[in-house]
Amino acid sequence: MIIAVDGPTASGKGTIAKALAAHFGLPHLDTGLLYRAVGYQCAQDGGEPNSLADALAACAFPDSLLDDPELRSEAVGALASKVSVHPAVRKSLYERQRAFAEQDGGAVLDGRDIGTVIAPEADVKLFVTASVAARAQRRFAEMRSQGRAVTLEDITADIAQRDARDMNRADAPLKPAADALIFDTTNFGKDEAIEAAIEAVTSAA
Ligand code: C5P
Repeated sequence: MIIAVDGPTASGKGTIAKALAAHFGLPHLDTGLLYRAVGYQCAQDGGEPNSLADALAACAFPDSLLDDPELRSEAVGALASKVSVHPAVRKSLYERQRAFAEQDGGAVLDGRDIGTVIAPEADVKLFVTASVAARAQRRFAEMRSQGRAVTLEDITADIAQRDARDMNRADAPLKPAADALIFDTTNFGKDEAIEAAIEAVTSAA
């Protein structure tokens, strides 16, 4: 069984994908991490994420980078969103994601284009979303709990900017697959969202 989980930043898609993988005993790939690694490597090399040549060179990042906690930062998320606009960058990460999706027994992948590009044949596609205000509030609480000095206004602006970039790019824009279940977590707590997602997948599979 292949489960595709797509959605915008801070929608809860990562949490839901992880919980689905644990529940159904499937391996899980957070594909955003791959784009984050490219963005981070590009900056480390002194490159410019909007430059195709710089972003493409950064696709040769070492696998060990995927374990670096710094990849999870907002700053690296923004870099990822910039390098992910280049079709050649997306192409260079395609095989790795595809191989993960095709492994025996199935897999859960989360990202932006899993149901539309990486695994259009997925057995179940969830498009996880939530209002910008709800997503900003969650990210704000998470960052405050880590002791980071951030404002809700800045986070709201960052999220809106990242949404716009991810939805408006020409190649593999963020959008629900025609056959995706739209899963709005605006009014859900974490446990509720997980429970509802497991139920949705169980009845759809
Ligand atoms: O999901 P996450 O926030 O880690 O993704 C970081 C960025 O990587 C996204 O904003 C998006 O631009 C890009 N991305 C993508 N396709 C994916 C996963 C992530 O373009 N499948």
